[in-house]
Amino acid sequence: MIRNPISGRNFEEFIRASSALDLKNLETSLLQPLPVLGFTAQSASEALEQAQQLAEAAYLEKNPDAESHAEKILYLIHSLNHFAPPLQELPAILWGTLSRAKVVDAMEKQQSIQPASREMTKSILEGLVLEAEEKDHPILDEICSLPDPKGISIYAKNWIITAQGFINQLASLFQRSPRNLKKVVRENMEDEFKGTEHAVLRDRFLQSVGVHYSPQEALKDPEYLSESMSVLNLRTLLTTLSNPYFAFGSFYSIEGVFYQVSRRLTQGLRKRGLPEDSFEMFTVHSEVDEDHASEWLEGIDKANLTDAERGCVVAGARAQMRTRHRHYEAMKALIQRS
Ligand SMILES: [Fe+2]
Ligand SMILES: [Fe+2]
Repeated sequence: MIRNPISGRNFEEFIRASSALDLKNLETSLLQPLPVLGFTAQSASEALEQAQQLAEAAYLEKNPDAESHAEKILYLIHSLNHFAPPLQELPAILWGTLSRAKVVDAMEKQQSIQPASREMTKSILEGLVLEAEEKDHPILDEICSLPDPKGISIYAKNWIITAQGFINQLASLFQRSPRNLKKVVRENMEDEFKGTEHAVLRDRFLQSVGVHYSPQEALKDPEYLSESMSVLNLRTLLTTLSNPYFAFGSFYSIEGVFYQVSRRLTQGLRKRGLPEDSFEMFTVHSEVDEDHASEWLEGIDKANLTDAERGCVVAGARAQMRTRHRHYEAMKALIQRS
């Protein structure tokens, strides 16, 4: 597909010469209220070629600069287009090309999808969540006990990136769910609006730690990591596939890890003396997400899925947790450097 592989050294040059990959142009295009006709066959083919070059460098050659840029493009499209596939020509070309490469890499290149029995599925899913608790989450205790609040602000920035669009992605999965699994998704969505809306709780935490989040801000500030955008992008993309089972695995894993994250943060932020209402987001999710995790697991278990479908559930959870592990590693490295 690619004729001139992008090396680390000339990546900036490549981006400067590739107007289709410019984030400002992309933002302008995404903010148009209606698609604009008039993209010529030549401009479409140039955009496609640039997108293919970036996709290949990012997801086949694993060029870190290319991957970071590709994740930023997908993040901007997802954030400004309400986590739905875009209609406008430039975003549609970029989204289709980069998303396909990212999903194939995460779901096929990095793992093989194997059929799974009921017992295997349950034990692999629970094992993945346990692994994250043991390997990734201890940094949260450290962040909360650091004298400098910078660690908390870095965490908050990167957490909010991964938390964006949660309801939209659930809604997208609801569209694709088989009838016997729609109830699990619907109940999870309803809980987002019970008591104080969870979106309000998220904002309240950000404000209390001085983080003013917007997608445009996130693309300017280097403390927002592209590895965090990758978590959001993968979750969003799995809910756009017509096969819903990958996303079921991904959502189970998210619910499974978040009550553990929430318990650590509740304890750490309370010890630090932050006002209780500033971290209510985590107090609430310490309980509610444990229920959600068992509801997803029970739903998957009782849905009479085939072994092949359960294999997709496992693959979705595995890909989500692998991507999330990279986000934790990148966050740890950034906090240590700061
Ligand atoms: Fe929630
Ligand atoms: Fe939840």
